[in-house]
Amino acid sequence: MTFRFPDGFVWGTATAAHQVEGNNLNADFWLLEHTPGTSFAEPSGDACDHYHRYPQDIALLAQLGFNSYRFSIEWARVEPEEGHFSIAALDHYRRMLAACREHGLLPCVTYHHFTSPRWFTADGGWEDPKNVDRFARYCERVTAHLGDLIGMCCTINEANLGAMLAMAGVLPHEGWKSVSPFVAEAARRADSTLDRFGPFLLGHPLKTRDALLAAHLKARKVIRGGRGTFPVGVTLAMLDFQAVEGGEARRDRARSESYDAFLEEAQQDEFVGVQTYSRQRFGPSGPIGPEPGVETLVMGYEYWPDALEETVRYARARANVPIYVTENGIGTTDDAHRIEYVRRALSGVVRCLRDGLDVRGYFYWSLLDNFEWLFGYGPQFGLVGVDRRTQLRTPKPSAYWLGGIARANAFETE
Ligand code: BGC
Repeated sequence: MTFRFPDGFVWGTATAAHQVEGNNLNADFWLLEHTPGTSFAEPSGDACDHYHRYPQDIALLAQLGFNSYRFSIEWARVEPEEGHFSIAALDHYRRMLAACREHGLLPCVTYHHFTSPRWFTADGGWEDPKNVDRFARYCERVTAHLGDLIGMCCTINEANLGAMLAMAGVLPHEGWKSVSPFVAEAARRADSTLDRFGPFLLGHPLKTRDALLAAHLKARKVIRGGRGTFPVGVTLAMLDFQAVEGGEARRDRARSESYDAFLEEAQQDEFVGVQTYSRQRFGPSGPIGPEPGVETLVMGYEYWPDALEETVRYARARANVPIYVTENGIGTTDDAHRIEYVRRALSGVVRCLRDGLDVRGYFYWSLLDNFEWLFGYGPQFGLVGVDRRTQLRTPKPSAYWLGGIARANAFETE
């Protein structure tokens, strides 16, 4: 049976500057990747050279049938030293926005996607409340320079990530440093700056959660006060938290600590961005591992495409604003598996729409096989393959399949 999506449904793919642009030298993560004893599998290097190759990548996205592109502005390029703004860097992003417009793509811009300038993180990062104003000043500049071309924006990507990982048992509550003596040692060798790097992973998760929420509120204010007539929202990392018998209280607490403060505030936003990849189960004494018999993926979590439907429903129940799926996807070398994952996840979106939930768009993560943070170039989330030596792009069958759904704005359901 054919399901027609509502008119104007946004179909896009998402990327983040540091993961695709290449040679992001002034970013905190660049330093982290190059610190002796680093936990990164490999450095980001040239990434996908998207900084130079965006014209062809944007053209390809449009040709495939999509109508939107979500990408991020790199703060470390725009403000390489505190208070010094690069007009050339801002102009670069203006050209990217213009390219989207020329190709009929709605540009969805993320102001902050994990990376910060080195100076910012070295001076306390998100653990220091004074830095919220510095972020707001950057947002103000970006909006003044680019606001007339932006289609919609996400202030901060996965502002709740640290808190969510702590609640899911992936990070200890006091941060990543103490998980591994290896990381602590690297921090010492890097003259103790390392423990302040990686705003979400290395800081105190609950402290950074509160600062990031404050940063979102300030950013929203300055963006709206500037040239920002476009929808503004925040994106949330959401696992489908499930309980096995006796785990309900643990599950509920994890859910509320990870999401609720953001969803409450999102009521004043124009939308909330849901980003879901998997689920996390809870037993009576806390998070429990993958269920025997359920496939686990390259990043260690379960193959669980139905998680998207549950998190969309939870977000919508708590925040009565439109929902965009700003990220959903799978890292795999088996492209048929990717198609199956997305088919099942989209079926969940269709069930939500049939129930009358206001879901406005779906962004697949990611356009390109790119730098997957600590995992390097191993996990392949892209619809489009990238030859690491030649930078040659090769669309996979999933790119044509999902692009076809986007173009038709329709989906064959079971
Ligand atoms: C992040 C991306 C990341 C993706 C896949 C999301 O949490 O926003 O930057 O690459 O997940 O792991």
